Amino acid sequence: MAYFASKDRYNKMKYNRCGHSGLLLPAISLGLWHNFGGTGDFKKMKEILFRAFDLGITHFDLANNYGPPPGSAESNLKNILQSDLGAYRDQLIISTKAGYLMWEGPYGEWGSRKYLLASLDQSLKRMGLDYVDIFYSHRPDPDTPLEETMMALHTAVQQGKALYAGISNYDAETTGQAIDILENLGTPCLIHQPKYNMFHRWVEEELLGVLEKRGVGCIPFSPLAQGLLTGRYLDGIPADSRIAGESIFLQKEHLDAGTLVKIKALNQHAEQRGQTMAQMALAWILNRRQVTSVLIGASSVIQLEENVATLHNLNFSKDELAYIDNILIP
Ligand SMILES: NC(=O)c1ccc[n+]([C@@H]2O[C@H](COP(=O)([O-])OP(=O)(O)OC[C@H]3O[C@@H](n4cnc5c(N)ncnc54)[C@H](OP(=O)(O)O)[C@@H]3O)[C@@H](O)[C@H]2O)c1
Repeated sequence: MAYFASKDRYNKMKYNRCGHSGLLLPAISLGLWHNFGGTGDFKKMKEILFRAFDLGITHFDLANNYGPPPGSAESNLKNILQSDLGAYRDQLIISTKAGYLMWEGPYGEWGSRKYLLASLDQSLKRMGLDYVDIFYSHRPDPDTPLEETMMALHTAVQQGKALYAGISNYDAETTGQAIDILENLGTPCLIHQPKYNMFHRWVEEELLGVLEKRGVGCIPFSPLAQGLLTGRYLDGIPADSRIAGESIFLQKEHLDAGTLVKIKALNQHAEQRGQTMAQMALAWILNRRQVTSVLIGASSVIQLEENVATLHNLNFSKDELAYIDNILIP
């Protein structure tokens, strides 16, 4: 049956301005890193994407290598766009990235102009799109001049293959330099995509300050620490969870005794707030004024709905924040 988007979808989401740009992003965005590849359940992917859009999530985040196999998340999105969501293309913000290994040989990863522009062409073909909304350098390349990598992003925008340029996984100092270079080229840096969650707080030291000062948006990835900051692992490792699955990025060792103690204490506090732990973990990030959107993953519609319901309570008192800090940094 054909998909028709829910008429009241825009009343269900909060939209935040991305830095000093004209672009508004949903407070919660959805990433297709896990659960959307060629080995996944295609019917379920469609259900999750449709429900996301019905809940006002206008932003879907991809990368050239999302799968498995690499590239298959983009190919799956193409099918869903062509059958259903493509009718709403002008209401969607679709991003992709290049930086990690995608094909063999010296031009299949990192930050050269050769790799970035070839990869973007491949991504567009895989997604069946004329342009992406945001094209990211997925990681800094220590062996390529930063000017070359930024020039490639600028070219992508000039060619009309991307509307905006972004960077991901860049430290604060390199971020400042990248922002300068892009500004001089006439393509402002729209957004930074760093890893940020209660267990991983490096951005608080310097990066958030740089982004705020320079008017660049911030969209933290893995805000739920890949599921650790949810109710998922409170009573063991469920068979259908990321840890139990094939992912090399989240494994049993990450759920050590110290982490479990923190998770249990956080869960107790979330209950007192009348939220689930996942909702508290997302609200805690959205509470930072520099954050434009949190970039979640979801393996079910139920998880997605729970996460979007975070928006009912985004407030924390100072005492509460201190209490949470004490749990995280005992
Ligand atoms: N730029 C980069 O280098 C980079 C790196 C990583 C990710 N990303 C982006 O960030 C996106 C999100 O990353 P992520 O998937 O690691 O994010 P995450 O939101 O931290 O973790 C998502 C996982 O947590 C579990 N989960 C989510 N909501 C839940 C809930 N309410 N209750 C119980 N479990 C819940 C699910 O795992 P189960 O499978 O166990 O159900 C889900 O797949 C990616 O898709 C990608 O777009 C970017």
